[in-house]
Amino acid sequence: MLNVIVLVSGGGTNLQAIIDAVETEKISNTRISGVISNNKNAYALVRAKKHGIENRCISPKDFETRAQFNEKFLEAVDGMKPDLIVLAGFLVVIPPKMTERYKNRIINIHPSLIPSFCGTGYYGLKVHEAALLRGVKVVGATVHFVDEGTDTGPIILQKAVEVEPGDTPEILQRRVMEQAEWKILPKAIDLIANGKVKVEDGKTVIL
Ligand code: GAR
Repeated sequence: MLNVIVLVSGGGTNLQAIIDAVETEKISNTRISGVISNNKNAYALVRAKKHGIENRCISPKDFETRAQFNEKFLEAVDGMKPDLIVLAGFLVVIPPKMTERYKNRIINIHPSLIPSFCGTGYYGLKVHEAALLRGVKVVGATVHFVDEGTDTGPIILQKAVEVEPGDTPEILQRRVMEQAEWKILPKAIDLIANGKVKVEDGKTVIL
């Protein structure tokens, strides 16, 4: 049984997609053992509570230095004994110690087709604003392993979504979530839980 923890910052619709997929057995061999948010007002925490999942908030704002936060954050994660850490809209930079300790055991959902519209400064609605500004016709989402860079780790799954006339960043964000994120994130977890994802030479092989 894969012990999964989910790290969140906001609404938690991706967390909800994971919870639903576990409950309906679209994700097998998996238990969500905890949710951590950096934001005490994140609706994602309410979603965790509703489903009886252990949850807590740990925020950089409550510490004098980033180093102190990183230490407590790592302690909180270690305490939940995860086999897999899922970043589902988590907007805090992962400390290098954590990417080292959990190499190829942290995954992230990013709302673009990496390597487009990713890296520092590209998160949430900003990604969709940039895509509309550039006038691309196809966008999408990516699930990837997290390494020490920003959105640079091995890609696991991607799904494309069409831009439509009249799209606003909000409309496009919702379509990318519905058509791509909520599908590929649970699917990636199921693949990992069933031993179907291997990393070779910085790329994944899906078995
Ligand atoms: C999602 O669109 C996710 O892809 C994005 O934040 C949103 C969180 O929504 N993540 C990033 O931009 C990470 N760089 P949610 O809280 O409703 O799941």
